[in-house]
Amino acid sequence: MSYETLLTEVIGAGERRTGVIRLNRPKQLNALNDTLMDELGVALKAFDADDAIGCIVLTGGDKAFAAGADISVLARFDFARAYQMDLITRNWEQLRYVRKPVIAAVAGFALGGGCELVMMCDIVIAADNARFGQPEIKLGLIPGAGGTQRLPRAVGKAKAMDLVLTGRMMDAAEAERSGLVARVVPADKLMEEALGAAAAICDLSAVSVLANKECVNRAFETGLSDGVHFERRMFHAMFSTEDKNEGTSAFLEKRKPVFKHR
Ligand code: CAA
Repeated sequence: MSYETLLTEVIGAGERRTGVIRLNRPKQLNALNDTLMDELGVALKAFDADDAIGCIVLTGGDKAFAAGADISVLARFDFARAYQMDLITRNWEQLRYVRKPVIAAVAGFALGGGCELVMMCDIVIAADNARFGQPEIKLGLIPGAGGTQRLPRAVGKAKAMDLVLTGRMMDAAEAERSGLVARVVPADKLMEEALGAAAAICDLSAVSVLANKECVNRAFETGLSDGVHFERRMFHAMFSTEDKNEGTSAFLEKRKPVFKHR
């Protein structure tokens, strides 16, 4: 499948491999327009549905992961049109429904909708030149793809208010300190690190990977008691898989497990 605004490839040699999606509108710093978001939805769905894919890496270019929604498009909208066509909702939400892990490998600017896409991913690995922010306020706007909700969950109210109300950027070190980013690596090691993490996930039981992701995400949708209850039931359900028997046996027999993903 070829795309106008994305580059995709499959990397790895194992039974399960990594699907890489690279946002590719470099002249516009990967500004997110309808074509790109439509294509991103298609590419995510395709990798998620493919049994040969164990993990997805979403990345951009060296200068920008994505500098936000395409402002030249936003400039042309009025309220009625934005509301009637449900701007953002139609083609920005696919990431939320991907069941396999998605690793964001972020170099350069991740601003506005770019930062919001990053926050929809599961693991964020940043190059040391990465910069994050929600600068919509400088356009007379507000974040429109979940920024006001996911940013405080990721970094707390104090930092979220600072970023959203001033529109300032934070660098990779501050983003890691604040909990937005899991790891910071030298820019020239970004893909190596992201692909290494993805390959490690590909080697695990696909059933267990899905269940782990689903349980962590549940923490953001429920209170503690309901969340722990959900986790407990999922934990019990894992005892029905062959992979649990293989994983525990392999540990006790001091050998590498061979998961069958069932
Ligand atoms: N939309 C459309 N075009 C964009 C863009 C965007 N979000 N960000 C950058 N570009 C374009 C620039 O217009 C410029 O195009 P030309 O070469 O044709 O002039 C090109 O990309 C390079 O950008 P700059 O010359 O500005 O590069 P710079 O290095 O001087 O600055 C930057 C980089 C700080 C990221 C700056 O481009 C910038 O501030 N961009 C806008 C960031 C922003 O406001 N994002 C939020 C968008 S709204 C949103 O995302 C809503 C939502 O929640 C979904």
